[in-house]
Amino acid sequence: MTRSSAPGKVYLFGEHAVVYGEPAVPCAIERRARVGVRRRDDGKLRVHAEDLSLDGFTVEYGGSADQQPDVDVPESLVTAAMGYVDGAIEQVREVTGEEDVGFDVTIESDIPLGAGLGSSAAVVVAAIDAATRELGVTLEPEEIAERAFRTEYEVQDGQASRADTFCSATGGAVRVEGDDCGSIEAPDLPLVIGFDGGAGDTGELVAGVRKLREEYPFAEDTVAAIGDVVRNGEDALEAGDLEELGRLMNFNHGLLSALGVSSRSLDSMVWGARDAGAYGAKLTGAGGGGCIVALDPTDETETALSYTPGCEETFRAELAETGVERLE
Ligand code: PMV
Repeated sequence: MTRSSAPGKVYLFGEHAVVYGEPAVPCAIERRARVGVRRRDDGKLRVHAEDLSLDGFTVEYGGSADQQPDVDVPESLVTAAMGYVDGAIEQVREVTGEEDVGFDVTIESDIPLGAGLGSSAAVVVAAIDAATRELGVTLEPEEIAERAFRTEYEVQDGQASRADTFCSATGGAVRVEGDDCGSIEAPDLPLVIGFDGGAGDTGELVAGVRKLREEYPFAEDTVAAIGDVVRNGEDALEAGDLEELGRLMNFNHGLLSALGVSSRSLDSMVWGARDAGAYGAKLTGAGGGGCIVALDPTDETETALSYTPGCEETFRAELAETGVERLE
């Protein structure tokens, strides 16, 4: 079995606006998806997933996404696991030229699903790396990022930026603007995550922002204003100015909220963190539910979040310096 891991991420700044060509700054965190693969010569793909916010489940199918597997778990979860893994394996078949190869795939992840922490990107990145290596091909992180992006783009019907996949493949803090992605310097950030136990529908949320933006010029301005916040955030990051970063994160959250992608539980966690003295707090990812990220070097935010209605889990997240990691 060949195994790889890849980290999840938080958006320090810029989600949603990145879809319209504004810059964004995601940052990889030490919460990982681990994917193990073993080659099968019958062309079948068998996926066993654990800890994906549900009890372990196994699906087996003949390699065609049209073929529905016979398993007793909610269809959306099967579709999620199958769609991403199937897409990743298609990329592997293409890049290695082994069109008919199958795999046994095992996924373990400590990244909550669909919660704005880049769980699917981490699974896809780790799967592409492990499966190519299983066939004797080693790809550079940039190539893995590119192929992982294509996978997400297809599975998410074109609603994907390069942010999650690039960040997961390379690690560290990243700047994304359109097709340009690059690593940037970041100080040690005291990141605290709050998770409401839920998930938002990225496609629906992106579509909602698109509609607002088409309908109201001021919504278009709001998206452009997020771009300005990001550019200021980059300067604050370079200067290691946590106070300024926090203020800008607060501003970014307000603009996302105006675009309708926050929720009661996300707002209540953001306010819980601010009241506890965090430098700043914002939702991360598509929104609608899921996670917030706050900046606080003390224990106050974690303590406050653990008592905040709507917060199911809170933890400190270290910046992940390494992206995709080869486990064996
Ligand atoms: O919730 P996530 O981690 O999939 O992030 C979505 C971020 C969006 O900007 C809303 C969409 C995208 O692909 O950039």
